Amino acid sequence: MDRFIIEGGYPIDGTVRISGAKNAALPLLSGAILASTPLTLTNVPSLKDVHTLIELIAGMGVTITKTGDTVHVDNSTHNSCFAPYELVKTMRASIFVLGPLLARFGEAQVSLPGGCAIGSRPVDQHLKAMEALGAQITVENGYVIGTVPGGRLKGGSINFDMVTVGGTENALMAASLAEGVTIIDNAAREPEIIDLARMLTAMGAKIEGAGTARITVQGVESLSGCEYSVCPDRIETGSYLAAALMSGGRVKATHTDSSQLEPVLHKFEEMGAEVTIAKESDVETIEVNMHGKRAKAVSVRTLPHPGFPTDMQAQFMAINTLAEGTSTIIETIFENRFMHAPELTRLGADIQIDGHTAVVRGVEKLSAAQVMATDLRASMSLVLAALTIEGKTQIDRIYHIDRGYELLEEKVRAIGGRITRESGA
Ligand code: UD1
Repeated sequence: MDRFIIEGGYPIDGTVRISGAKNAALPLLSGAILASTPLTLTNVPSLKDVHTLIELIAGMGVTITKTGDTVHVDNSTHNSCFAPYELVKTMRASIFVLGPLLARFGEAQVSLPGGCAIGSRPVDQHLKAMEALGAQITVENGYVIGTVPGGRLKGGSINFDMVTVGGTENALMAASLAEGVTIIDNAAREPEIIDLARMLTAMGAKIEGAGTARITVQGVESLSGCEYSVCPDRIETGSYLAAALMSGGRVKATHTDSSQLEPVLHKFEEMGAEVTIAKESDVETIEVNMHGKRAKAVSVRTLPHPGFPTDMQAQFMAINTLAEGTSTIIETIFENRFMHAPELTRLGADIQIDGHTAVVRGVEKLSAAQVMATDLRASMSLVLAALTIEGKTQIDRIYHIDRGYELLEEKVRAIGGRITRESGA
């Protein structure tokens, strides 16, 4: 297993180019299954999760190729609606293929994703949505087996019991090809949902209200291919900008979108950062500059969009470990998302956990140790912490980070960090 060695304590100052969003690319690739003519996606990041989904879709006979950041999808060779456990178990987002398969081919056999490190993460809401559209769903031997009587889903009323990003995306994709009108209530409002709705609309779907809690979809008979560019990764953007907050430094992110990151940028300002948003020949940039100052501790509570994103919680905990004062971090989305806290504590942080609340008392400095990455965003919090620490910090199990941060070493070096990857047994 690979590990990172980070030699920290050097000034953080530099520019990073932001990649396409993992959390947009995965539903967009799944949505490509709906197209009856070839489809091209651009700005697709090269990440483990993206490659897993491409492998899953290719396993269904679809002709799908990735060259650089461009993916071509041709469904004319499709011959199977089967998503096997071996691939699904490695990535929960595999469940995104359920809605498109049922909508386009009237059948699906998709392995249940199972648990994951940050909580049990059931898919009951996805299944409820498919049933509301007329699919018959059973769960047998660890597989979700779906069939559509008559072959075509019917528009219906979907009212989610909780705000679910993936559930909303699955419902949106399925409803686009259903017969009649679907109303999705208590829909998630994340930017990635808007991105998916935009691509589906470019394919011929009729969708209103994406980005609000009620989405209305008028189903159409078929969807064609299109060319679509994945939106910038807001979490990757926030993660690199956080490095400036941790170190008193400066980071500029390019090819990004500040409108998707408002709750995070407001918190950066509360912490004392100067945040500058600019357009340079059509490319949006966000610069965060601490001018050598120490960040002020700021409390956060994770919420569905437009609230503070759970995917930035670990990075904010890292900033707060070195900030001036005491902060409270409340995680409301996932049941077990503080696994980075004991690792940050190994680096000298002062963190007390009580259920879903963490109290962080800022310390003057952290110290080098051997730590372990536990999930994707948790891994980034350790990288951020290590960049401030004089001496060598070793981060094990970095396969988590390869799932979601494209060219991480190159980008860390671009902002002044010293990082090397070592291959281990
Ligand atoms: C997506 C993101 C993930 C982010 C999360 C919340 C992708 C690929 N991943 O995950 O990075 O952290 O949104 O912003 O886009 N739930 C149920 N039943 C369901 C569905 C969800 O109980 O059927 C629960 C989950 O266990 C969790 C909460 O609802 O506690 C939110 O999950 P959800 O919004 O669905 O997250 P994902 O789409 O899996």
